[in-house]
Amino acid sequence: MYRTNHCGELNIQDIGKEVSLCGWIQRSRDLGGMTFVDLRDRYGITQLVFNMETHPALCEEIRGLGREFVIQVQGKVAERSNKNSKMSTGDIEINAEKVEILNPSKTPPFTIEDQSDGGEELRMKYRYLDLRRNILRKNIELRYLVSRETRNYLDAQKFMEIETPVLIKSTPEGARDFVVPSRMNPGEFYALPQSPQTFKQLLMVAGFDKYFQLVKCFRDEDLRADRQPEFTQIDCEMSFVTQEDILKTFEGLAVHLFKNVKKIEMGSFPRMSYADAMKYYGNDKPDIRFDMKFVDLKEVSKGKSFKVFDDAESVLAICVKGCAEYTRKQLDELTDFVKRPQLGASGMVYARVNMDGSIKSSVDKFYDENDLKIWAEKCDAQNGDLILILAGKDSTCRKALSELRLEMGMRLGLRKSDVFAPLWVTDFPLLEFNEEGNRWHAMHHPFTSPNIEDIPLLDSNPGAVRAIAYDMVINGVEVGGGSIRIHNKELQKKMLKILGFSDEDASAQFGFLMNAFEYGAPPHGGLALGFDRLCALIGEADNIRDFIAFPKNNSGRDMMIDAPSSISLEQLKELGIELKKNE
Ligand code: AMO
Repeated sequence: MYRTNHCGELNIQDIGKEVSLCGWIQRSRDLGGMTFVDLRDRYGITQLVFNMETHPALCEEIRGLGREFVIQVQGKVAERSNKNSKMSTGDIEINAEKVEILNPSKTPPFTIEDQSDGGEELRMKYRYLDLRRNILRKNIELRYLVSRETRNYLDAQKFMEIETPVLIKSTPEGARDFVVPSRMNPGEFYALPQSPQTFKQLLMVAGFDKYFQLVKCFRDEDLRADRQPEFTQIDCEMSFVTQEDILKTFEGLAVHLFKNVKKIEMGSFPRMSYADAMKYYGNDKPDIRFDMKFVDLKEVSKGKSFKVFDDAESVLAICVKGCAEYTRKQLDELTDFVKRPQLGASGMVYARVNMDGSIKSSVDKFYDENDLKIWAEKCDAQNGDLILILAGKDSTCRKALSELRLEMGMRLGLRKSDVFAPLWVTDFPLLEFNEEGNRWHAMHHPFTSPNIEDIPLLDSNPGAVRAIAYDMVINGVEVGGGSIRIHNKELQKKMLKILGFSDEDASAQFGFLMNAFEYGAPPHGGLALGFDRLCALIGEADNIRDFIAFPKNNSGRDMMIDAPSSISLEQLKELGIELKKNE
Protein backbone atom coordinates (compact mmCIF):
# COMPACT_ATOMS: atom_id res chain seq x y z
CA MET A 1 0.00 0.00 0.00
CA TYR A 2 1.41 3.39 -0.97
CA ARG A 3 -0.52 5.50 1.53
CA THR A 4 -2.78 5.20 4.54
CA ASN A 5 -3.97 8.79 4.35
CA HIS A 6 -3.84 11.80 2.06
CA CYS A 7 -2.11 15.07 2.85
CA GLY A 8 -5.20 17.04 3.78
CA GLU A 9 -6.87 14.90 6.40
CA LEU A 10 -4.77 14.19 9.50
CA ASN A 11 -5.61 16.18 12.61
CA ILE A 12 -5.33 16.23 16.37
CA GLN A 13 -7.43 13.05 16.68
CA ASP A 14 -4.80 11.10 14.76
CA ILE A 15 -1.94 11.77 17.15
CA GLY A 16 0.17 8.68 17.75
CA LYS A 17 -0.94 6.91 14.57
CA GLU A 18 1.61 5.28 12.29
CA VAL A 19 0.87 6.61 8.81
CA SER A 20 2.20 6.51 5.29
CA LEU A 21 1.75 9.52 2.97
CA CYS A 22 2.66 10.16 -0.65
CA GLY A 23 3.04 13.46 -2.43
CA TRP A 24 5.23 16.20 -3.83
CA ILE A 25 7.78 18.21 -1.87
CA GLN A 26 6.34 21.73 -1.77
CA ARG A 27 9.23 23.20 0.23
CA SER A 28 11.75 22.23 2.86
CA ARG A 29 13.41 24.21 5.62
CA ASP A 30 16.68 22.95 7.04
CA LEU A 31 17.13 24.22 10.60
CA GLY A 32 20.25 22.16 11.38
CA GLY A 33 18.91 19.77 13.99
CA MET A 34 15.55 19.48 12.24
CA THR A 35 14.39 19.59 8.64
CA PHE A 36 10.77 20.48 7.95
CA VAL A 37 9.20 19.41 4.68
CA ASP A 38 5.76 20.40 3.37
CA LEU A 39 4.32 17.42 1.53
CA ARG A 40 1.57 18.27 -0.96
CA ASP A 41 -1.08 16.27 -2.78
CA ARG A 42 -4.48 17.07 -4.27
CA TYR A 43 -6.05 17.30 -0.83
CA GLY A 44 -3.66 19.56 1.05
CA ILE A 45 -0.30 19.90 2.74
CA THR A 46 1.11 17.98 5.69
CA GLN A 47 4.26 18.98 7.54
CA LEU A 48 6.95 16.31 7.88
CA VAL A 49 9.72 16.56 10.48
CA PHE A 50 13.10 14.94 10.05
CA ASN A 51 15.13 14.79 13.26
CA MET A 52 18.93 14.81 12.98
CA GLU A 53 19.38 13.35 16.45
CA THR A 54 17.12 10.32 16.08
CA HIS A 55 17.35 9.74 12.31
CA PRO A 56 20.63 11.26 11.04
CA ALA A 57 20.79 9.20 7.83
CA LEU A 58 17.22 10.01 6.94
CA CYS A 59 17.91 13.68 7.57
CA GLU A 60 20.89 13.59 5.23
CA GLU A 61 18.75 11.91 2.58
CA ILE A 62 15.93 14.40 2.73
CA ARG A 63 18.33 17.34 2.51
CA GLY A 64 19.34 16.13 -0.92
CA LEU A 65 15.80 16.22 -2.30
CA GLY A 66 14.48 19.19 -4.23
CA ARG A 67 11.11 20.78 -4.86
CA GLU A 68 8.52 18.58 -6.59
CA PHE A 69 10.29 15.29 -5.86
CA VAL A 70 7.64 12.59 -5.37
CA ILE A 71 8.15 10.74 -2.10
CA GLN A 72 6.51 8.24 0.16
CA VAL A 73 7.04 8.81 3.84
CA GLN A 74 6.27 6.69 6.87
CA GLY A 75 6.09 8.09 10.36
CA LYS A 76 4.06 8.92 13.42
CA VAL A 77 1.51 11.73 13.76
CA ALA A 78 2.54 14.19 16.50
CA GLU A 79 1.05 17.40 17.87
CA ARG A 80 2.75 20.53 16.58
CA SER A 81 4.19 22.96 19.05
CA ASN A 82 3.79 25.76 16.53
CA LYS A 83 0.22 25.33 15.24
CA ASN A 84 -1.02 26.84 11.96
CA SER A 85 -4.75 27.55 12.15
CA LYS A 86 -4.89 28.38 8.40
CA MET A 87 -4.22 24.75 7.42
CA SER A 88 -6.61 21.86 7.96
CA THR A 89 -3.58 19.78 9.05
CA GLY A 90 -2.04 22.71 10.93
CA ASP A 91 -2.28 21.11 14.37
CA ILE A 92 -0.12 18.10 13.56
CA GLU A 93 3.11 17.01 11.90
CA ILE A 94 4.59 13.64 10.96
CA ASN A 95 7.78 12.52 12.65
CA ALA A 96 9.35 10.83 9.67
CA GLU A 97 10.87 7.39 10.11
CA LYS A 98 11.31 6.21 6.55
CA VAL A 99 11.37 7.86 3.13
CA GLU A 100 11.14 6.37 -0.32
CA ILE A 101 11.86 8.48 -3.37
CA LEU A 102 9.19 7.51 -5.87
CA ASN A 103 10.48 9.85 -8.54
CA PRO A 104 12.94 12.74 -8.62
CA SER A 105 12.02 16.04 -10.27
CA LYS A 106 13.93 18.63 -12.21
CA THR A 107 13.63 22.10 -10.69
CA PRO A 108 10.32 23.37 -12.12
CA PRO A 109 10.59 26.37 -14.47
CA PHE A 110 8.36 28.43 -12.16
CA THR A 111 7.28 28.27 -8.54
CA ILE A 112 4.26 26.10 -7.74
CA GLU A 113 2.77 28.73 -5.43
CA ASP A 114 -0.47 30.74 -5.39
CA GLN A 115 1.52 33.70 -6.72
CA SER A 116 3.77 32.00 -9.25
CA ASP A 117 6.80 33.72 -10.74
CA GLY A 118 6.12 32.14 -14.14
CA GLY A 119 4.76 34.13 -17.09
CA GLU A 120 1.57 33.11 -18.90
CA GLU A 121 3.27 31.45 -21.89
CA LEU A 122 5.66 29.45 -19.73
CA ARG A 123 2.86 28.24 -17.49
CA MET A 124 0.81 27.24 -20.56
CA LYS A 125 3.77 25.24 -21.86
CA TYR A 126 4.07 23.39 -18.57
CA ARG A 127 0.34 23.27 -17.92
CA TYR A 128 0.63 20.05 -15.89
CA LEU A 129 2.83 21.94 -13.43
CA ASP A 130 0.57 24.98 -13.41
CA LEU A 131 -2.36 22.68 -12.63
CA ARG A 132 -0.53 21.68 -9.44
CA ARG A 133 -1.10 25.20 -8.12
CA ASN A 134 -3.94 25.55 -5.64
CA ILE A 135 -5.82 28.14 -7.59
CA LEU A 136 -6.03 26.12 -10.80
CA ARG A 137 -6.67 22.86 -8.97
CA LYS A 138 -9.63 24.48 -7.22
CA ASN A 139 -10.97 25.78 -10.55
CA ILE A 140 -10.85 22.32 -12.08
CA GLU A 141 -12.53 20.88 -8.98
CA LEU A 142 -15.24 23.53 -9.29
CA ARG A 143 -15.72 22.63 -12.95
CA TYR A 144 -16.23 19.02 -11.97
CA LEU A 145 -18.79 20.00 -9.31
CA VAL A 146 -20.71 22.12 -11.80
CA SER A 147 -20.83 19.19 -14.26
CA ARG A 148 -21.88 16.75 -11.53
CA GLU A 149 -24.64 19.03 -10.25
CA THR A 150 -25.81 19.76 -13.80
CA ARG A 151 -26.20 16.03 -14.40
CA ASN A 152 -27.94 15.55 -11.04
CA TYR A 153 -30.46 18.29 -11.74
CA LEU A 154 -31.20 17.33 -15.33
CA ASP A 155 -31.37 13.62 -14.49
CA ALA A 156 -33.97 14.36 -11.79
CA GLN A 157 -35.97 16.24 -14.44
CA LYS A 158 -35.89 13.18 -16.74
CA PHE A 159 -33.39 14.58 -19.24
CA MET A 160 -31.28 11.95 -21.00
CA GLU A 161 -27.66 12.56 -21.98
CA ILE A 162 -27.18 11.49 -25.59
CA GLU A 163 -23.99 11.87 -27.62
CA THR A 164 -24.07 13.42 -31.07
CA PRO A 165 -21.38 13.12 -33.75
CA VAL A 166 -18.24 15.23 -33.89
CA LEU A 167 -17.50 14.70 -37.56
CA ILE A 168 -20.36 16.50 -39.28
CA LYS A 169 -21.09 18.71 -42.25
CA SER A 170 -19.93 22.26 -42.76
CA THR A 171 -22.70 24.87 -42.81
CA PRO A 172 -22.46 28.46 -43.94
CA GLU A 173 -24.27 30.08 -40.99
CA GLY A 174 -22.61 31.20 -37.77
CA ALA A 175 -18.87 31.28 -37.12
CA ARG A 176 -16.18 29.66 -39.26
CA ASP A 177 -15.97 25.87 -39.09
CA PHE A 178 -12.93 23.79 -38.25
CA VAL A 179 -12.71 21.20 -41.00
CA VAL A 180 -11.25 17.70 -41.16
CA PRO A 181 -10.26 16.11 -44.46
CA SER A 182 -11.72 12.70 -45.25
CA ARG A 183 -9.15 10.14 -46.49
CA MET A 184 -11.83 7.83 -47.80
CA ASN A 185 -13.55 10.63 -49.68
CA PRO A 186 -10.72 12.58 -51.31
CA GLY A 187 -11.40 16.29 -51.64
CA GLU A 188 -14.22 16.14 -49.12
CA PHE A 189 -14.26 17.44 -45.59
CA TYR A 190 -16.09 16.96 -42.36
CA ALA A 191 -16.67 19.95 -40.10
CA LEU A 192 -16.44 19.89 -36.33
CA PRO A 193 -19.77 20.98 -34.80
CA GLN A 194 -20.21 24.59 -33.73
CA SER A 195 -23.03 23.13 -31.66
CA PRO A 196 -25.18 19.98 -31.93
CA GLN A 197 -28.16 22.16 -32.93
CA THR A 198 -29.63 20.12 -35.77
CA PHE A 199 -28.90 16.78 -34.10
CA LYS A 200 -30.72 17.70 -30.94
CA GLN A 201 -33.71 18.78 -33.01
CA LEU A 202 -33.62 15.41 -34.78
CA LEU A 203 -33.57 13.71 -31.38
CA MET A 204 -36.84 15.50 -30.67
CA VAL A 205 -38.26 14.20 -33.96
CA ALA A 206 -37.08 10.77 -32.79
CA GLY A 207 -39.20 11.22 -29.67
CA PHE A 208 -36.54 11.55 -26.95
CA ASP A 209 -38.45 14.45 -25.46
CA LYS A 210 -35.78 15.78 -23.06
CA TYR A 211 -32.16 15.68 -24.22
CA PHE A 212 -29.01 17.11 -22.75
CA GLN A 213 -25.30 16.78 -23.36
CA LEU A 214 -22.16 18.28 -21.91
CA VAL A 215 -20.61 18.67 -25.29
CA LYS A 216 -17.50 20.05 -26.93
CA CYS A 217 -18.21 22.68 -29.60
CA PHE A 218 -15.71 24.14 -32.04
CA ARG A 219 -15.68 27.61 -33.55
CA ASP A 220 -12.91 29.16 -35.56
CA GLU A 221 -13.40 32.74 -34.37
CA ASP A 222 -11.26 35.47 -32.84
CA LEU A 223 -10.46 34.60 -29.26
CA ARG A 224 -11.04 36.62 -26.12
CA ALA A 225 -11.10 36.02 -22.38
CA ASP A 226 -14.56 34.45 -22.68
CA ARG A 227 -14.00 32.58 -25.94
CA GLN A 228 -12.02 29.45 -26.73
CA PRO A 229 -11.91 27.69 -30.12
CA GLU A 230 -13.10 24.51 -28.41
CA PHE A 231 -15.45 25.01 -25.52
CA THR A 232 -18.17 23.11 -23.73
CA GLN A 233 -21.90 23.63 -23.74
CA ILE A 234 -24.62 22.28 -21.50
CA ASP A 235 -26.77 21.64 -24.53
CA CYS A 236 -30.48 20.92 -23.99
CA GLU A 237 -33.66 20.40 -25.96
CA MET A 238 -37.25 19.65 -24.97
CA SER A 239 -40.46 18.71 -26.80
CA PHE A 240 -43.98 20.01 -26.24
CA VAL A 241 -42.80 23.10 -24.40
CA THR A 242 -43.39 26.82 -24.48
CA GLN A 243 -40.73 29.47 -23.87
CA GLU A 244 -42.06 29.71 -20.32
CA ASP A 245 -41.40 26.00 -19.65
CA ILE A 246 -37.84 26.35 -20.88
CA LEU A 247 -37.08 29.50 -18.89
CA LYS A 248 -38.45 27.86 -15.73
CA THR A 249 -36.46 24.65 -16.25
CA PHE A 250 -33.11 26.37 -16.83
CA GLU A 251 -33.59 29.11 -14.29
CA GLY A 252 -34.07 26.11 -12.00
CA LEU A 253 -30.76 24.65 -13.19
CA ALA A 254 -28.88 27.91 -12.53
CA VAL A 255 -30.48 28.25 -9.09
CA HIS A 256 -29.56 24.61 -8.32
CA LEU A 257 -25.94 25.14 -9.40
CA PHE A 258 -25.43 28.34 -7.43
CA LYS A 259 -27.05 26.76 -4.39
CA ASN A 260 -25.16 23.47 -4.49
CA VAL A 261 -21.78 24.61 -5.75
CA LYS A 262 -21.61 28.17 -4.45
CA LYS A 263 -24.03 28.06 -1.49
CA ILE A 264 -25.84 31.12 -2.82
CA GLU A 265 -29.62 31.51 -3.13
CA MET A 266 -30.32 33.25 -6.43
CA GLY A 267 -34.05 33.97 -6.22
CA SER A 268 -36.07 34.30 -9.40
CA PHE A 269 -34.64 35.89 -12.54
CA PRO A 270 -36.05 39.19 -13.77
CA ARG A 271 -36.92 39.42 -17.45
CA MET A 272 -36.11 42.20 -19.87
CA SER A 273 -36.98 42.53 -23.53
CA TYR A 274 -34.14 42.98 -26.00
CA ALA A 275 -35.65 46.39 -26.86
CA ASP A 276 -35.44 47.54 -23.23
CA ALA A 277 -31.95 46.13 -22.80
CA MET A 278 -30.79 48.20 -25.77
CA LYS A 279 -32.76 51.27 -24.64
CA TYR A 280 -31.52 51.37 -21.06
CA TYR A 281 -28.13 49.67 -21.28
CA GLY A 282 -27.15 49.82 -24.98
CA ASN A 283 -26.34 46.15 -24.73
CA ASP A 284 -28.18 42.85 -25.11
CA LYS A 285 -26.39 41.44 -22.08
CA PRO A 286 -26.73 44.15 -19.46
CA ASP A 287 -24.83 43.99 -16.20
CA ILE A 288 -27.60 44.80 -13.74
CA ARG A 289 -25.50 44.58 -10.58
CA PHE A 290 -25.76 48.35 -10.74
CA ASP A 291 -28.22 50.87 -12.11
CA MET A 292 -26.86 53.82 -14.13
CA LYS A 293 -29.48 53.45 -16.90
CA PHE A 294 -29.26 55.47 -20.11
CA VAL A 295 -31.25 58.71 -20.20
CA ASP A 296 -32.34 60.17 -23.52
CA LEU A 297 -31.47 63.90 -23.62
CA LYS A 298 -32.15 64.48 -27.32
CA GLU A 299 -35.36 66.45 -26.91
CA VAL A 300 -34.11 68.63 -24.04
CA SER A 301 -30.77 69.41 -25.63
CA LYS A 302 -31.75 70.47 -29.13
CA GLY A 303 -32.22 73.95 -30.53
CA LYS A 304 -29.45 75.65 -28.55
CA SER A 305 -27.04 76.01 -31.46
CA PHE A 306 -24.81 73.18 -30.26
CA LYS A 307 -24.37 71.48 -33.62
CA VAL A 308 -22.98 68.23 -32.23
CA PHE A 309 -26.21 67.56 -30.34
CA ASP A 310 -28.53 69.09 -32.93
CA ASP A 311 -27.15 66.90 -35.73
CA ALA A 312 -26.95 63.74 -33.66
CA GLU A 313 -29.28 60.81 -34.15
CA SER A 314 -29.06 60.21 -30.39
CA VAL A 315 -27.98 62.15 -27.31
CA LEU A 316 -27.67 59.78 -24.37
CA ALA A 317 -26.49 60.26 -20.82
CA ILE A 318 -25.62 58.31 -17.71
CA CYS A 319 -25.58 59.72 -14.21
CA VAL A 320 -22.56 58.65 -12.18
CA LYS A 321 -23.25 58.97 -8.48
CA GLY A 322 -20.81 60.96 -6.36
CA CYS A 323 -18.31 61.73 -9.11
CA ALA A 324 -18.88 65.49 -9.61
CA GLU A 325 -15.38 66.11 -8.34
CA TYR A 326 -13.69 64.11 -11.03
CA THR A 327 -10.60 66.00 -12.14
CA ARG A 328 -10.02 67.32 -15.61
CA LYS A 329 -7.45 64.57 -16.06
CA GLN A 330 -9.94 61.86 -15.11
CA LEU A 331 -12.53 63.28 -17.50
CA ASP A 332 -9.95 63.44 -20.30
CA GLU A 333 -9.17 59.79 -19.62
CA LEU A 334 -12.85 58.91 -20.01
CA THR A 335 -13.05 60.94 -23.22
CA ASP A 336 -10.05 59.03 -24.60
CA PHE A 337 -11.73 55.81 -23.49
CA VAL A 338 -14.86 56.42 -25.58
CA LYS A 339 -12.86 57.77 -28.51
CA ARG A 340 -10.84 54.56 -28.92
CA PRO A 341 -11.33 53.18 -32.44
CA GLN A 342 -13.18 50.11 -31.10
CA LEU A 343 -15.85 52.41 -29.63
CA GLY A 344 -15.63 55.29 -32.06
CA ALA A 345 -17.41 58.07 -30.12
CA SER A 346 -16.47 61.53 -31.38
CA GLY A 347 -16.19 63.00 -27.90
CA MET A 348 -17.80 63.23 -24.49
CA VAL A 349 -19.75 66.03 -22.83
CA TYR A 350 -20.05 66.23 -19.06
CA ALA A 351 -22.01 68.18 -16.49
CA ARG A 352 -21.10 68.30 -12.81
CA VAL A 353 -23.82 68.83 -10.25
CA ASN A 354 -21.79 70.49 -7.51
CA MET A 355 -22.41 70.03 -3.81
CA ASP A 356 -23.98 73.52 -3.62
CA GLY A 357 -26.47 72.58 -6.35
CA SER A 358 -24.82 74.66 -9.08
CA ILE A 359 -24.22 72.85 -12.37
CA LYS A 360 -21.19 73.26 -14.60
CA SER A 361 -20.87 71.59 -17.97
CA SER A 362 -18.27 71.31 -20.69
CA VAL A 363 -20.76 73.01 -23.02
CA ASP A 364 -21.66 76.05 -20.87
CA LYS A 365 -21.34 78.20 -23.99
CA PHE A 366 -24.57 76.70 -25.34
CA TYR A 367 -26.54 75.73 -22.27
CA ASP A 368 -27.38 77.95 -19.29
CA GLU A 369 -27.98 76.81 -15.72
CA ASN A 370 -31.72 76.33 -16.39
CA ASP A 371 -31.06 74.03 -19.35
CA LEU A 372 -28.62 72.06 -17.26
CA LYS A 373 -31.12 71.79 -14.40
CA ILE A 374 -33.51 70.08 -16.83
CA TRP A 375 -30.77 67.59 -17.77
CA ALA A 376 -30.07 66.93 -14.11
CA GLU A 377 -33.76 66.35 -13.42
CA LYS A 378 -34.09 63.95 -16.34
CA CYS A 379 -31.04 62.05 -15.13
CA ASP A 380 -32.22 62.12 -11.53
CA ALA A 381 -28.83 63.63 -10.67
CA GLN A 382 -28.33 64.81 -7.09
CA ASN A 383 -25.73 67.18 -5.70
CA GLY A 384 -22.31 65.58 -6.13
CA ASP A 385 -23.25 63.57 -9.24
CA LEU A 386 -21.60 63.62 -12.65
CA ILE A 387 -23.52 63.39 -15.92
CA LEU A 388 -21.68 61.92 -18.89
CA ILE A 389 -23.18 62.43 -22.34
CA LEU A 390 -22.44 60.92 -25.74
CA ALA A 391 -24.03 61.99 -29.01
CA GLY A 392 -23.95 60.71 -32.57
CA LYS A 393 -25.17 57.74 -34.57
CA ASP A 394 -27.53 55.76 -32.36
CA SER A 395 -25.70 52.41 -32.59
CA THR A 396 -22.24 53.96 -31.99
CA CYS A 397 -23.56 56.05 -29.16
CA ARG A 398 -25.20 53.10 -27.39
CA LYS A 399 -22.18 50.87 -27.78
CA ALA A 400 -19.75 53.47 -26.45
CA LEU A 401 -22.01 54.55 -23.60
CA SER A 402 -22.56 50.92 -22.65
CA GLU A 403 -18.79 50.45 -22.33
CA LEU A 404 -18.46 53.74 -20.46
CA ARG A 405 -21.18 52.60 -18.05
CA LEU A 406 -19.32 49.34 -17.41
CA GLU A 407 -16.06 51.25 -16.94
CA MET A 408 -17.68 53.59 -14.41
CA GLY A 409 -19.29 50.61 -12.67
CA MET A 410 -15.83 49.07 -12.39
CA ARG A 411 -14.20 52.28 -11.14
CA LEU A 412 -16.87 52.69 -8.48
CA GLY A 413 -16.57 49.07 -7.32
CA LEU A 414 -20.15 48.29 -8.36
CA ARG A 415 -19.22 45.10 -10.22
CA LYS A 416 -18.32 42.85 -7.34
CA SER A 417 -17.47 39.33 -8.45
CA ASP A 418 -19.25 37.76 -5.47
CA VAL A 419 -22.56 39.48 -6.26
CA PHE A 420 -24.69 37.74 -8.88
CA ALA A 421 -27.37 39.51 -10.91
CA PRO A 422 -29.03 37.14 -13.38
CA LEU A 423 -31.73 37.96 -15.90
CA TRP A 424 -33.44 36.63 -18.99
CA VAL A 425 -33.29 38.80 -22.09
CA THR A 426 -36.25 37.93 -24.32
CA ASP A 427 -37.92 38.96 -27.59
CA PHE A 428 -34.79 39.23 -29.68
CA PRO A 429 -35.29 40.29 -33.28
CA LEU A 430 -35.39 37.27 -35.58
CA LEU A 431 -33.14 38.88 -38.18
CA GLU A 432 -30.46 41.51 -38.44
CA PHE A 433 -29.41 43.20 -41.64
CA ASN A 434 -25.81 42.78 -42.60
CA GLU A 435 -24.74 45.88 -44.55
CA GLU A 436 -21.56 44.28 -45.86
CA GLY A 437 -23.23 41.19 -47.26
CA ASN A 438 -26.38 43.19 -48.09
CA ARG A 439 -28.57 40.43 -46.69
CA TRP A 440 -30.47 39.31 -43.62
CA HIS A 441 -28.75 37.16 -41.02
CA ALA A 442 -30.43 35.06 -38.36
CA MET A 443 -29.77 36.81 -35.07
CA HIS A 444 -29.77 33.48 -33.19
CA HIS A 445 -29.73 30.74 -35.83
CA PRO A 446 -31.86 29.80 -38.85
CA PHE A 447 -33.95 27.28 -36.88
CA THR A 448 -35.40 29.80 -34.45
CA SER A 449 -39.14 30.32 -34.62
CA PRO A 450 -40.52 33.77 -35.33
CA ASN A 451 -43.04 35.06 -32.82
CA ILE A 452 -46.30 33.68 -34.23
CA GLU A 453 -47.96 37.13 -34.13
CA ASP A 454 -45.16 38.55 -36.28
CA ILE A 455 -45.21 35.92 -39.05
CA PRO A 456 -47.20 38.21 -41.39
CA LEU A 457 -44.34 40.73 -41.18
CA LEU A 458 -41.81 38.23 -42.56
CA ASP A 459 -42.46 39.47 -46.10
CA SER A 460 -43.27 43.12 -45.50
CA ASN A 461 -40.89 44.11 -42.68
CA PRO A 462 -38.49 41.30 -41.77
CA GLY A 463 -36.47 43.54 -39.42
CA ALA A 464 -39.51 44.00 -37.16
CA VAL A 465 -40.14 40.28 -36.63
CA ARG A 466 -39.45 39.14 -33.09
CA ALA A 467 -38.02 35.71 -32.43
CA ILE A 468 -39.07 33.35 -29.66
CA ALA A 469 -35.49 33.49 -28.43
CA TYR A 470 -33.93 34.22 -25.07
CA ASP A 471 -30.55 34.61 -23.44
CA MET A 472 -29.54 33.91 -19.87
CA VAL A 473 -27.32 36.76 -18.71
CA ILE A 474 -25.46 36.93 -15.41
CA ASN A 475 -23.34 39.96 -14.45
CA GLY A 476 -23.18 41.11 -18.06
CA VAL A 477 -22.01 37.72 -19.33
CA GLU A 478 -24.08 35.86 -21.92
CA VAL A 479 -24.18 32.54 -20.14
CA GLY A 480 -26.53 30.88 -22.58
CA GLY A 481 -29.13 31.24 -25.25
CA GLY A 482 -31.85 29.34 -26.98
CA SER A 483 -35.17 29.48 -28.72
CA ILE A 484 -38.37 27.75 -29.68
CA ARG A 485 -37.64 26.12 -33.03
CA ILE A 486 -39.41 26.03 -36.33
CA HIS A 487 -40.91 22.52 -36.72
CA ASN A 488 -42.73 23.07 -39.97
CA LYS A 489 -41.03 22.41 -43.28
CA GLU A 490 -42.64 25.28 -45.17
CA LEU A 491 -41.77 27.86 -42.53
CA GLN A 492 -38.19 26.55 -42.36
CA LYS A 493 -37.95 26.80 -46.14
CA LYS A 494 -39.23 30.35 -46.03
CA MET A 495 -36.77 31.30 -43.32
CA LEU A 496 -33.85 29.91 -45.33
CA LYS A 497 -35.07 31.83 -48.38
CA ILE A 498 -35.12 35.09 -46.40
CA LEU A 499 -31.56 34.29 -45.33
CA GLY A 500 -30.57 34.14 -48.98
CA PHE A 501 -30.45 30.37 -49.59
CA SER A 502 -31.59 29.21 -53.00
CA ASP A 503 -33.98 26.22 -52.92
CA GLU A 504 -31.11 23.93 -54.03
CA ASP A 505 -28.69 25.28 -51.39
CA ALA A 506 -31.34 25.02 -48.70
CA SER A 507 -32.07 21.40 -49.50
CA ALA A 508 -28.37 20.52 -49.93
CA GLN A 509 -27.49 22.06 -46.56
CA PHE A 510 -30.56 21.39 -44.47
CA GLY A 511 -32.64 18.93 -46.50
CA PHE A 512 -32.15 16.24 -43.82
CA LEU A 513 -33.78 18.48 -41.22
CA MET A 514 -36.63 19.67 -43.43
CA ASN A 515 -37.36 16.10 -44.52
CA ALA A 516 -37.49 15.07 -40.87
CA PHE A 517 -40.08 17.78 -40.26
CA GLU A 518 -42.37 15.85 -42.63
CA TYR A 519 -42.43 12.82 -40.33
CA GLY A 520 -44.24 14.11 -37.30
CA ALA A 521 -41.84 16.63 -35.75
CA PRO A 522 -43.12 17.71 -32.34
CA PRO A 523 -43.09 21.37 -31.32
CA HIS A 524 -39.77 21.80 -29.52
CA GLY A 525 -37.25 24.24 -28.17
CA GLY A 526 -34.19 24.44 -25.97
CA LEU A 527 -31.06 26.26 -25.10
CA ALA A 528 -27.35 25.86 -24.54
CA LEU A 529 -25.41 27.26 -21.61
CA GLY A 530 -21.72 28.06 -22.03
CA PHE A 531 -20.30 25.63 -19.47
CA ASP A 532 -16.85 27.26 -19.29
CA ARG A 533 -18.38 30.72 -18.84
CA LEU A 534 -20.68 29.45 -16.14
CA CYS A 535 -17.73 27.90 -14.27
CA ALA A 536 -15.71 31.12 -14.55
CA LEU A 537 -18.66 33.13 -13.22
CA ILE A 538 -19.20 30.81 -10.28
CA GLY A 539 -15.44 30.86 -9.70
CA GLU A 540 -15.56 34.69 -9.77
CA ALA A 541 -13.03 34.97 -12.60
CA ASP A 542 -13.04 36.59 -16.03
CA ASN A 543 -10.98 34.19 -18.08
CA ILE A 544 -12.56 30.86 -19.00
CA ARG A 545 -9.06 29.53 -19.75
CA ASP A 546 -8.47 29.15 -16.02
CA PHE A 547 -11.35 26.67 -15.83
CA ILE A 548 -10.22 24.45 -18.69
CA ALA A 549 -7.54 21.86 -17.92
CA PHE A 550 -5.73 22.21 -21.24
CA PRO A 551 -6.82 25.43 -22.96
CA LYS A 552 -5.53 27.20 -26.07
CA ASN A 553 -3.82 30.59 -25.98
CA ASN A 554 -5.20 33.67 -27.73
CA SER A 555 -3.77 32.58 -31.08
CA GLY A 556 -5.57 29.26 -30.78
CA ARG A 557 -2.36 27.37 -29.95
CA ASP A 558 -1.89 24.62 -27.44
CA MET A 559 1.53 25.66 -26.15
CA MET A 560 2.14 22.37 -24.38
CA ILE A 561 1.72 19.94 -27.25
CA ASP A 562 2.56 22.63 -29.80
CA ALA A 563 -0.56 22.36 -31.90
CA PRO A 564 -1.57 23.10 -34.55
CA SER A 565 1.41 21.72 -36.42
CA SER A 566 2.29 20.84 -39.98
CA ILE A 567 1.81 17.27 -41.16
CA SER A 568 3.99 15.19 -43.44
CA LEU A 569 3.70 15.25 -47.22
CA GLU A 570 2.74 11.58 -47.07
CA GLN A 571 -0.16 12.34 -44.77
CA LEU A 572 -1.27 15.18 -47.01
CA LYS A 573 -1.04 12.97 -50.07
CA GLU A 574 -3.04 10.25 -48.41
CA LEU A 575 -5.73 12.83 -47.66
CA GLY A 576 -5.73 13.97 -51.25
CA ILE A 577 -4.51 17.44 -50.31
CA GLU A 578 -1.81 19.12 -52.33
CA LEU A 579 -0.06 22.13 -50.90
CA LYS A 580 1.29 24.36 -53.62
CA LYS A 581 4.53 26.15 -52.78
CA ASN A 582 4.34 29.88 -51.97
CA GLU A 583 0.57 29.83 -51.72
P1 AMO B 1 -24.93 30.04 -28.87
O1 AMO B 1 -24.15 30.19 -30.11
O2 AMO B 1 -25.56 31.27 -28.29
O3 AMO B 1 -26.15 29.04 -29.06
O4 AMO B 1 -24.01 29.35 -27.77
C1 AMO B 1 -24.50 29.06 -26.48
C2 AMO B 1 -23.54 29.55 -25.42
O5 AMO B 1 -22.25 28.99 -25.60
C3 AMO B 1 -21.26 29.89 -25.10
N1 AMO B 1 -20.24 30.13 -26.14
C4 AMO B 1 -18.91 30.07 -25.95
N2 AMO B 1 -18.19 29.83 -24.86
C5 AMO B 1 -16.84 29.82 -24.98
N3 AMO B 1 -16.18 30.02 -26.12
C6 AMO B 1 -16.86 30.27 -27.28
N4 AMO B 1 -16.19 30.44 -28.43
C7 AMO B 1 -18.29 30.31 -27.21
N5 AMO B 1 -19.27 30.53 -28.12
C8 AMO B 1 -20.44 30.41 -27.46
C9 AMO B 1 -21.97 31.15 -24.71
C10 AMO B 1 -23.28 31.04 -25.45
O6 AMO B 1 -24.31 31.73 -24.80
N6 AMO B 1 -27.23 25.92 -30.60
C11 AMO B 1 -27.42 27.18 -29.92
C12 AMO B 1 -28.19 27.03 -28.63
C13 AMO B 1 -29.66 26.74 -28.81
O7 AMO B 1 -30.32 27.45 -29.58
O8 AMO B 1 -30.14 25.83 -28.15
C14 AMO B 1 -26.06 27.80 -29.63
O9 AMO B 1 -25.02 27.21 -29.82
O10 AMO B 1 -22.18 31.16 -23.31
